[in-house]
Amino acid sequence: MGVSFQVSKFVILSPSMENTQKSIPINLYRISSPLAVEVIENRRLTAESRGRKNDVRHLVFKFNGSYPCIPGQSAGILPPGIDSRTKRPNSPRLYSVASPSTGDHGDGKTFSLCVTRHFWENPQTGEKDLPGAASNYLCDLRVGDKVKVTGPTGKHFLLPGDFGVRDFIFVATGTGIAPFRGMLIDLFQQGYERNVWLILGVPYKDCLLYDDEFRAFAVKYPKFTYLTAISREENNPFSSEVQTRQNKMYVQVRMYEYREKLLKILSGSNSMMYLCGLKGMEEGIFPVLNALGKGAGIGDSFAEKLKADQRLRVEVY
Ligand code: A2P
Repeated sequence: MGVSFQVSKFVILSPSMENTQKSIPINLYRISSPLAVEVIENRRLTAESRGRKNDVRHLVFKFNGSYPCIPGQSAGILPPGIDSRTKRPNSPRLYSVASPSTGDHGDGKTFSLCVTRHFWENPQTGEKDLPGAASNYLCDLRVGDKVKVTGPTGKHFLLPGDFGVRDFIFVATGTGIAPFRGMLIDLFQQGYERNVWLILGVPYKDCLLYDDEFRAFAVKYPKFTYLTAISREENNPFSSEVQTRQNKMYVQVRMYEYREKLLKILSGSNSMMYLCGLKGMEEGIFPVLNALGKGAGIGDSFAEKLKADQRLRVEVY
């Protein structure tokens, strides 16, 4: 039946995934009764020289009482003000938590987010570079500011209860790194010793997120493999096998480069793969997975097989 681990002071994960999901509290706070949390840290993760574009922040929020959120869940952020499109109060925006189950301070009294400053284009007016309400609100917060929070939400992008007997491949683009940072900290704090990979795609080297933390993990935990794909600074050396826009180095190219080792892990029936980040990343990754599976005689659609076996989780936005 596998082993049982205590991941946080709030949630004891049981061996079966179903039990795990049932025991996860969700929607403790709603729009009508949000939780007030206080900003205790707002740290830029990307180079200042990149300006307002590529501005990614690590924000830590402190709360009184209880806000039990585990990696893979999201917090709802209620930005103040009126939505210019609907003329109604802003609705909550979901952000994936970037902290481990007990928070960055380990006391169960904080949670953290990884937020990129977002700009959008109005298709009706053609206006460009319009600041996204929630992301700019979050990125501009100062220590001491109060924020209204709903949630937590989400039960499907969590680590399984029997994580101690599994190998993991985590693939992220940009702020899709958030849940994996929390999961890796949770795993290593629980004495996890199996194979775990992280493949992170970002545009520039000085936009790598939590790079120091992952490098430190790679030194400390020999079975942790940390790979990056720097799209605008590295070329795709496998352009005839894996096509990418402008021959950029994307996460799926790195997967192809390490295909033998990757396949060895994914061939194990206890392995799991998690993808998080830009909508569309799965369209580049699935063909690589399928090519790997086909080469190994696993069938034409390895991605579908992994999904059917509950071994592939995708969260894109
Ligand atoms: P690029 O923007 O150079 O095309 P961010 O969210 O910080 O922009 O990072 C997302 C990263 O994912 C960037 O390096 C981006 O590359 C890359 N990316 C964009 N589209 C895809 C895709 N379809 N598959 C994989 N990676 C992608």
